[in-house]
Order: sequence, then C-alpha cells, then structure tokens
Amino acid sequence: MRYYGQNTFLAPCLMAYVLALLSATHHVLASPVAATGVDMSLLFPPEPESVHIVELPLPPVSPSNETGACTLSINPHGTGCIGKDAELRNGNFLPDNKHIVASVTFAGAPDVPQPGSAYSGVQLIVIKTDGRKFPNGDAWKCITCGIPTARRNGSTELLEYPQAFRDGRRVLAGNNIVDCGGAVLSSPKCVPERAHIYPIYWTNTVNGSGPGGAIRENRIHPDNVHMGFSSFTSTGGVLGQFAYFGRLVFNPFPVTGEPRVPRYELHNVTRLYDPAALQPFSVHGGKLTINPEALSVGELRGFSGSGDEIIYVGANRESCNTDIFAANIDTGHVRRITQHPGYADPIDVSPDNKWSVILDTRSTNRTMFMAAMRGIPPLTDLVSSTASVSIRNNGQRRFFQPWLLDSTGDRGEYLGQQLNAHETGSESVNDPEWNAQADPRWSWDGTQIAYYQRLTVPPQCGGLNPLPCPASTSDGERSYRIMLATLTARKPVRLRPVKRVSDVIPWGVPYVPGDPTPVRWYPPGGAYTVYGRVSGYADVTLIENSGGTGLETVAVSYHDYSDAAGVVLTGSENVTSVHVGESLTLERVEWYSDLTSIGPGSHSASKVTSEDGFHLLIDMMETEFVANGTLTSTVDKVVYGQPENYT
Ligand SMILES: *[C@@H]1O[C@H](CO)[C@@H](O)[C@H](O)[C@H]1NC(C)=O
Ligand SMILES: *[C@@H]1O[C@H](CO)[C@@H](O)[C@H](O)[C@H]1NC(C)=O
Ligand SMILES: *[C@@H]1O[C@H](CO)[C@@H](O)[C@H](O)[C@H]1NC(C)=O
Ligand SMILES: *[C@@H]1O[C@H](CO)[C@@H](O)[C@H](O)[C@H]1NC(C)=O
Ligand SMILES: *[C@@H]1O[C@H](CO)[C@@H](O)[C@H](O)[C@H]1NC(C)=O
Ligand SMILES: *[C@@H]1O[C@H](CO)[C@@H](O)[C@H](O)[C@H]1NC(C)=O
Ligand SMILES: *[C@@H]1O[C@H](CO)[C@@H](O)[C@H](O)[C@H]1NC(C)=O
Repeated sequence: MRYYGQNTFLAPCLMAYVLALLSATHHVLASPVAATGVDMSLLFPPEPESVHIVELPLPPVSPSNETGACTLSINPHGTGCIGKDAELRNGNFLPDNKHIVASVTFAGAPDVPQPGSAYSGVQLIVIKTDGRKFPNGDAWKCITCGIPTARRNGSTELLEYPQAFRDGRRVLAGNNIVDCGGAVLSSPKCVPERAHIYPIYWTNTVNGSGPGGAIRENRIHPDNVHMGFSSFTSTGGVLGQFAYFGRLVFNPFPVTGEPRVPRYELHNVTRLYDPAALQPFSVHGGKLTINPEALSVGELRGFSGSGDEIIYVGANRESCNTDIFAANIDTGHVRRITQHPGYADPIDVSPDNKWSVILDTRSTNRTMFMAAMRGIPPLTDLVSSTASVSIRNNGQRRFFQPWLLDSTGDRGEYLGQQLNAHETGSESVNDPEWNAQADPRWSWDGTQIAYYQRLTVPPQCGGLNPLPCPASTSDGERSYRIMLATLTARKPVRLRPVKRVSDVIPWGVPYVPGDPTPVRWYPPGGAYTVYGRVSGYADVTLIENSGGTGLETVAVSYHDYSDAAGVVLTGSENVTSVHVGESLTLERVEWYSDLTSIGPGSHSASKVTSEDGFHLLIDMMETEFVANGTLTSTVDKVVYGQPENYT
C-alpha cells in the first residue's frame, strides 16, 4: 500500500469532521488543530464582504438561426450575432484583468463569402470587463472567426472551458489550443490571419496509430506546461472515469496518429488512480473499513492557484454528500474543501491560493432530501452515488449559485458567502431562475470573479411542466448571460510566478499507451461489520450484480453506531441500483431508509422513505428527476422533501 502524509492528515481532518457534526463553534475547532501547526488565521472564518455584480456585454442576439438573419440593422458593425438559446462559456481573464475569454455560438451569419460570414458557429471571443470598447466600438472581439482552414486543420469544437495561458497569448478551448501567433489576444496584432488552432492529441496505442484517447474536462495547470483532464471508461456495462495529468508538447510534424497535423501532444501522462494504493474501503475478513484519507480522485476539477494541489470530486465522506477535495501534487495529502450537504463540483482557486469560488446547490436545498442528515457513513454510496449525483440538476436546469469560500473551506458553521445573495448592481443578479453553470473564474489580481448563468427554459418549465417559464431579463431575451462580480473591499494582489511542477506524480501511475484500463476496486459481495469510530457497529450486506461487474445492493443496519462522541445513528437502509437495458447511464434505483440520529444536546435528524420505498429512474446524462414514493430528511424539525417529478 502506498499513501502519503496520512498521519499528519488524519488528526485535523477527523477532528474537523467530528466537530462539523457537532456544529462546533470556531473556538472549539481551533484548539485541536492548532497543535498540528496549521496557520491559526485560516481557522477563523472571514466576515462576509461586499460584492458588486454586473452583466457583461455580449454580441447582439440573432432573431433566428436562418442564414443572414443577423443583419446590419441588428449589428451595424457586421461583427456577428449570437443564438438566443445557444450555449456559451465564460473563460478566465487576460493578464491585464480587463478582459475575459469566452466561447459563444454565433448564429444568423450571411453566406460565404459575404462580409460577416465568418461570425458563425462556436467561436472564441475576448470580452472587455472594464466597460471600454475595442477600436471598432464593440465590447468584444472574435479571435477565431475566419481563421483560414489550413491554420485550424484537425481542430474540434472550441466550446468547453476556455482557459487563457498566463501570458494571454494562447487559450486552451475544448480539446484545442488557440494561439494568436505570439500576440496577446486583446491586442490589435491578434487577428485571424495570424492565429492558429491546434488539436490536442493523447497517444493511447502502442505504435501511436489512431485518433488518440478521448479527453474531456481539460484544465491547464498554472505552470502552463502541464494539463489535467478526465477520460471516461466503460467496463462491463458500467461507465467510469479516471483523471490524468500530462505535459503539453507541441509537435509540428507528427508521423503517427490522426489528425497528422501540427498538434499539441500529451506526454508523460500519469493516471491519478493507483489500484495498489489505499482505497476508500478495505476488507479484513468480515470487517469492512472506511478509509476517508484514501486518495479517490473522481473527476478532475483543476488546480490550486500555485499549482501545488490537484482539485477533484472525491469519494463521499458522508452518504449522498458530493464534495470537492484537494490532494497535494507531490505528497498526496488530501484536504476536504466542501462539507455542506449541497452538491458542488465547479471550482476555481484564487491565484494566491487563499480563496476559492465554488458553484453549489446549497442555496436551493435541491439535494437536502437525500443529504441533509449528516454523519451517515458512505456505505449505500457504493451503489447510490450515481443517483445522488444525478439529482443535482433537472436536465439543463442547474441549481448552482456561486459561493466564496476561504482556503480552508467549509467548517463548523462557516459555509462561505453566496456571491450574488443580495440585490447588487442590476435587479436580477440573485434571481434563482438564473442558475450558474460551470467554472467560475478569478481575476489574476484576486478582486473579481466571472461566472455564467442560464435561465430556466423549456422543457424544464412551461408546457406540461408544473413550473411556469420565467421571462428573460437579458438583451435579446438571451437564455445565457455572463456576470462579473467585484469584491469591492479588496486590494489587487500581485501575481507571483508559478514553479514548473514535475512530470511525475508519485502517488499516481505512469500511463502506458496500450495498457488495459483498470477497474476501480470495490469490496466483494458478502456480509460485513463496520465498527463506529467511537462505539457501536453496522451490519452491512453487499450483493454483486449478476454479471459480476459491480455491486447492485447495499443493505445496512446501524446498532448505536457512533463516529463522533455524542452522535448516535440507529435504523436501517438499503439501496439497489440496476442499469436499465443496455444503457450505461440510465439507472433504476430502489431505496428504503429508516434512519435516525441523536445528539449532541437536543440535535436530531432522520432520513425516511415512504412505506413502499423511494423508486427513482434517472439517467446521469439527462438528469431528469422521475420518482415514485418519497425520501425525506429532517434535521432539527426542518423537513426537506424531494423535488416534484420533472422539476
Ligand atoms: C439555433 O442553433 C443552436 C445551436 O447552434 C440551437 O441550440 C438552437 O436550438 C437553434 N435555435 C433554433 C430556434 O433552431
Ligand atoms: C489537413 O491535414 C491533412 C493531413 O491530416 C492534409 O491531408 C490536408 O491537406 C490538410 N488540409 C489543409 C487545408 O491544410
Ligand atoms: C499499429 O497497430 C495497430 C493495432 O495493432 C495496427 O492495426 C496498425 O497496422 C499498426 N500501424 C502501424 C503504422 O504500424
Ligand atoms: C517523458 O516522456 C519522454 C518522451 O516524450 C520520455 O523520453 C521520458 O523518458 C519521459 N520521462 C519520464 C520521467 O517518464
Ligand atoms: C432551505 O432550507 C432552509 C432551512 O434550512 C430555509 O431557511 C431556506 O429558506 C430554504 N431555501 C429554499 C430556497 O428553499
Ligand atoms: C430493504 O428494506 C425493505 C424495507 O425494510 C425490505 O422490505 C427489503 O426486503 C429490503 N431489501 C433488501 C435487499 O435488503
Ligand atoms: C412509478 O410507478 C408506475 C406505476 O406503477 C411505473 O409504471 C413506473 O415505472 C414507476 N416509476 C419509477 C421511477 O419507479
């Protein structure tokens, strides 16, 4: 077994965990941790700060997708229109902190070769964030519109997660790197005739042939030399995912693989999963042990500002509660950043490492019916985590809002600050029908955050859906908008250089092209006992599926089970989850819970399904909520029910 920094990690982490259960005061939290030498100032939660939010300008909206619908009367500059409901993403800032990059979908362009025909489809743009304009009078500028074909050979869609390099001259966008020929993107020297789009290639065969591995969720490391990414696996009808880390190397003349065009290649790739390391569970005879300190990197979310930590969605520490974790890139020391029962996954850590902004459902109580009761060990999660992750959205409607957290993250009663909680700037910055979508971004000086939101639109409202559709408050009734939050009390922080990290991550496994992809380990079917860290125990039955490719049922009975002094869990639950037909992503989940916990003091909680159980049919890609029966969590008499079907 190989794991690192475990001893230094365990004490503060378990204390934080225990004390969170107890809703500890920050005083109580501080003392045990102080003994470990952690910076005390980090333990005292910050005061809420003032935030000013504005909507950033975007190209005008085309009345339709028809060719030529974007006329000069709509955009007199002839610099294009975007689609009313078409997707966009905000990216990060350029080094002057006065521009962000973004990907948008242009619509209604005239036919080639008429002027303006280049403003079509998904393109990378730069948007001014200081209220100024480019020389042509626009507040934005398209970087990729009209790049000649020969300069973007082999490239693919630019939509996902645009991330400018620190020098503002290159941008990671989708599985490509956009390069403005050495010019900063905002400068007049950056013109399409000068720009290139290069595909990114990951060799996954022994002789380097083929289209390369399928990469997704790419995040540039702050050293701008390395990149993290994720890649799906499908083994035995089960969808899985591993995270990877590699070095980007430009190859002007590749001799193997397709596309055989100038491209960036991923070299010295490390898989951030080691089958030989400590896993989230281990089995010793009839004893099942939960290992919260295990490195369990699910989807990679990015890096700390200085690049010393890898940020990821990790195995649940508490049942049904999806959280963000950080692992030190060298030592593998794990920190839990979020604890709130809300679902979080998008995150950006500030360049000085001192803050993060997360997108979380915690403002909406969306996941509380499943996760509000704290301190349930993550046992049913062996089969229920797909369901507990998938209920976070309703299709394209997400329930995220941006939250500011200090570097230590959630603890005790500190749960961060919702950035757009108050009426600031325009009237609707806190409208709950505008939901944040993915990847908020810090300015390099730590004073601003860009994020984007989408309005609830059909079929998530209107028609047969019980939720009426809200009216768009944005220009052209767009259903997307990009917001800019300014932390008005902050002084700009000077950007420090980032050390280039090693190609080698000691706690990962070097990726060898052609080697079989491992399967994440899970405890084999059987009857086990889990002992509480303080007292009591749980009987656990694990049942494998008929194909022998994974677990299907987890049944647990708690006997005065206690992981934290004064908190006692009793009752039972079982969850069975089966894939429907040949689908990798559609699951039918049968759920029975009858749990209560008491303590400390007069605190109490319960998690209970209706007599006939709770039955959920959910596709992890579609994320449409359809259930029979009820699952209800109650914490100190506050009752959290599930959403209505289809909402
Ligand atoms: C216009 O095209 C976008 C994709 O570019 C699509 O999402 C949208 O539904 C289309 N709108 C109409 C009205 O067809
Ligand atoms: C694109 O690259 C391919 C080789 O993969 C080549 O055959 C083709 O001519 C190139 N096209 C352009 C426009 O450069
Ligand atoms: C590379 O390996 C694949 C699969 O083994 C084989 O089909 C292909 O012919 C090889 N290509 C070259 C150029 O050797
Ligand atoms: C990194 O990859 C290169 C090939 O790109 C190889 O020559 C080198 O040995 C690798 N380094 C390590 C540390 O694996
Ligand atoms: C979420 O639940 C809390 C009680 O814990 C309540 O105060 C709050 O109003 C609820 N929020 C929404 C959006 O329902
Ligand atoms: C799950 O619990 C329900 C209700 O107690 C029970 O009827 C059912 O048999 C249990 N299923 C399993 C697989 O343990
Ligand atoms: C709910 O019950 C109906 C009627 O018995 C059934 O057709 C449907 O499949 C059930 N849905 C779920 C999600 O269990």
